[in-house]
Amino acid sequence: MLFAIACDHAGYLLKKEIIEILQQHGHEVIDLGTHSYESVDYPDYGEKVASLVSIGKAERGILICGTGIGMSIVANKFRNVRASLCNELFTAKMSRLHNDANILVLGSRVVGIDLAKEIVTTWLNTPFEGERHCIRLKKIFDIEKRVF
Ligand code: RB5
Repeated sequence: MLFAIACDHAGYLLKKEIIEILQQHGHEVIDLGTHSYESVDYPDYGEKVASLVSIGKAERGILICGTGIGMSIVANKFRNVRASLCNELFTAKMSRLHNDANILVLGSRVVGIDLAKEIVTTWLNTPFEGERHCIRLKKIFDIEKRVF
Protein backbone atom coordinates (compact mmCIF):
# COMPACT_ATOMS: atom_id res chain seq x y z
CA MET A 1 0.00 0.00 0.00
CA LEU A 2 1.20 3.56 -0.67
CA PHE A 3 1.39 5.72 2.45
CA ALA A 4 1.98 9.46 2.79
CA ILE A 5 3.41 10.59 6.12
CA ALA A 6 4.22 13.97 7.63
CA CYS A 7 4.73 15.63 10.99
CA ASP A 8 5.60 18.94 12.57
CA HIS A 9 8.72 19.45 14.70
CA ALA A 10 7.03 17.72 17.67
CA GLY A 11 6.59 14.52 15.66
CA TYR A 12 9.95 14.40 13.94
CA LEU A 13 11.49 11.61 16.03
CA LEU A 14 8.35 9.45 16.00
CA LYS A 15 7.94 9.83 12.24
CA LYS A 16 11.30 8.15 11.64
CA GLU A 17 10.29 5.17 13.77
CA ILE A 18 6.94 4.83 12.05
CA ILE A 19 8.43 4.93 8.56
CA GLU A 20 10.53 1.92 9.57
CA ILE A 21 7.45 0.02 10.73
CA LEU A 22 5.59 0.79 7.51
CA GLN A 23 8.52 -0.41 5.43
CA GLN A 24 8.89 -3.56 7.53
CA HIS A 25 5.25 -4.32 6.69
CA GLY A 26 6.08 -3.96 2.99
CA HIS A 27 4.43 -0.56 2.42
CA GLU A 28 5.76 2.22 0.20
CA VAL A 29 6.17 5.54 2.00
CA ILE A 30 6.20 9.13 0.73
CA ASP A 31 7.84 11.23 3.45
CA LEU A 32 6.51 14.79 3.16
CA GLY A 33 8.51 16.24 6.07
CA THR A 34 9.24 17.98 8.26
CA HIS A 35 12.85 16.87 8.31
CA SER A 36 14.23 18.45 11.50
CA TYR A 37 13.32 19.71 14.98
CA GLU A 38 13.08 23.29 13.69
CA SER A 39 9.68 24.76 14.51
CA VAL A 40 7.14 24.61 11.68
CA ASP A 41 3.36 25.03 11.39
CA TYR A 42 1.37 21.78 11.46
CA PRO A 43 -1.30 22.92 8.93
CA ASP A 44 1.33 23.04 6.18
CA TYR A 45 2.22 19.40 6.78
CA GLY A 46 -1.29 18.16 7.45
CA GLU A 47 -2.33 19.58 4.10
CA LYS A 48 0.44 17.75 2.24
CA VAL A 49 -0.75 14.32 3.38
CA ALA A 50 -4.50 14.96 3.41
CA SER A 51 -4.49 16.39 -0.12
CA LEU A 52 -2.80 13.25 -1.49
CA VAL A 53 -5.19 10.92 0.32
CA SER A 54 -8.15 13.07 -0.74
CA ILE A 55 -7.41 12.64 -4.46
CA GLY A 56 -6.29 9.02 -4.15
CA LYS A 57 -2.61 9.64 -4.86
CA ALA A 58 -1.84 7.97 -1.52
CA GLU A 59 -4.03 5.15 -0.22
CA ARG A 60 -3.45 5.94 3.44
CA GLY A 61 -1.77 8.62 5.52
CA ILE A 62 -0.12 9.12 8.88
CA LEU A 63 0.19 12.51 10.58
CA ILE A 64 1.96 13.38 13.80
CA CYS A 65 2.01 16.55 15.88
CA GLY A 66 2.34 17.17 19.62
CA THR A 67 -1.21 16.25 20.62
CA GLY A 68 -2.54 15.05 17.26
CA ILE A 69 -5.36 17.56 17.55
CA GLY A 70 -4.09 20.16 15.10
CA MET A 71 -3.31 17.59 12.42
CA SER A 72 -6.76 15.99 12.86
CA ILE A 73 -8.53 19.31 12.43
CA VAL A 74 -6.59 20.03 9.25
CA ALA A 75 -6.88 16.58 7.69
CA ASN A 76 -10.65 16.33 8.19
CA LYS A 77 -11.15 19.49 6.11
CA PHE A 78 -10.41 17.41 3.01
CA ARG A 79 -12.95 15.48 0.98
CA ASN A 80 -12.72 11.67 1.30
CA VAL A 81 -10.48 11.95 4.34
CA ARG A 82 -11.40 10.11 7.50
CA ALA A 83 -8.62 11.05 9.88
CA SER A 84 -8.69 9.47 13.33
CA LEU A 85 -6.70 10.64 16.31
CA CYS A 86 -5.70 7.45 18.10
CA ASN A 87 -3.55 7.75 21.18
CA GLU A 88 -4.51 4.32 22.48
CA LEU A 89 -5.17 0.88 21.01
CA PHE A 90 -8.96 0.64 21.28
CA THR A 91 -9.66 3.68 19.10
CA ALA A 92 -6.95 2.56 16.65
CA LYS A 93 -8.80 -0.71 16.16
CA MET A 94 -12.30 0.80 16.07
CA SER A 95 -11.29 3.57 13.66
CA ARG A 96 -10.50 0.88 11.10
CA LEU A 97 -13.36 -1.54 11.91
CA HIS A 98 -16.17 1.03 12.02
CA ASN A 99 -14.90 4.20 10.33
CA ASP A 100 -12.56 2.85 7.65
CA ALA A 101 -10.17 5.60 8.73
CA ASN A 102 -7.68 6.39 6.00
CA ILE A 103 -5.41 8.71 7.99
CA LEU A 104 -4.01 7.81 11.39
CA VAL A 105 -3.10 10.77 13.56
CA LEU A 106 -0.81 10.46 16.57
CA GLY A 107 0.17 12.84 19.36
CA SER A 108 3.87 12.43 19.96
CA ARG A 109 3.66 14.29 23.28
CA VAL A 110 0.84 12.03 24.45
CA VAL A 111 2.07 8.54 23.55
CA GLY A 112 5.48 7.00 24.07
CA ILE A 113 7.32 5.49 21.12
CA ASP A 114 6.51 1.87 22.03
CA LEU A 115 2.78 2.52 22.36
CA ALA A 116 2.80 4.53 19.12
CA LYS A 117 4.38 1.59 17.32
CA GLU A 118 1.69 -0.76 18.67
CA ILE A 119 -1.02 1.67 17.60
CA VAL A 120 0.39 1.80 14.07
CA THR A 121 0.65 -1.99 13.86
CA THR A 122 -2.92 -2.43 15.12
CA TRP A 123 -4.19 0.16 12.65
CA LEU A 124 -2.36 -1.54 9.77
CA ASN A 125 -3.64 -5.00 10.63
CA THR A 126 -7.30 -4.17 11.23
CA PRO A 127 -9.70 -4.34 8.26
CA PHE A 128 -12.90 -2.33 7.73
CA GLU A 129 -15.93 -4.32 8.88
CA GLY A 130 -18.25 -2.99 6.15
CA GLU A 131 -21.96 -3.90 6.41
CA ARG A 132 -23.95 -1.33 8.45
CA HIS A 133 -20.92 0.96 8.59
CA CYS A 134 -21.06 1.43 4.80
CA ILE A 135 -24.41 3.18 5.19
CA ARG A 136 -22.86 5.56 7.72
CA LEU A 137 -19.85 6.29 5.52
CA LYS A 138 -22.21 7.01 2.63
CA LYS A 139 -23.91 9.58 4.88
CA ILE A 140 -20.53 11.22 5.46
CA PHE A 141 -19.98 11.39 1.67
CA ASP A 142 -23.41 13.00 1.34
CA ILE A 143 -22.54 15.59 3.98
CA GLU A 144 -19.30 16.38 2.12
CA LYS A 145 -21.28 16.92 -1.08
CA ARG A 146 -23.67 19.32 0.66
CA VAL A 147 -21.06 21.22 2.66
CA PHE A 148 -18.12 21.65 0.28
C1 RB5 B 1 3.38 22.54 18.45
O1 RB5 B 1 3.95 23.15 19.57
C2 RB5 B 1 2.01 21.98 18.79
O2 RB5 B 1 1.10 23.02 18.96
C3 RB5 B 1 1.55 21.02 17.71
O3 RB5 B 1 2.49 20.00 17.58
C4 RB5 B 1 0.23 20.32 17.94
O4 RB5 B 1 0.16 19.75 19.20
C5 RB5 B 1 -0.99 21.06 17.58
O5 RB5 B 1 -2.12 20.59 17.69
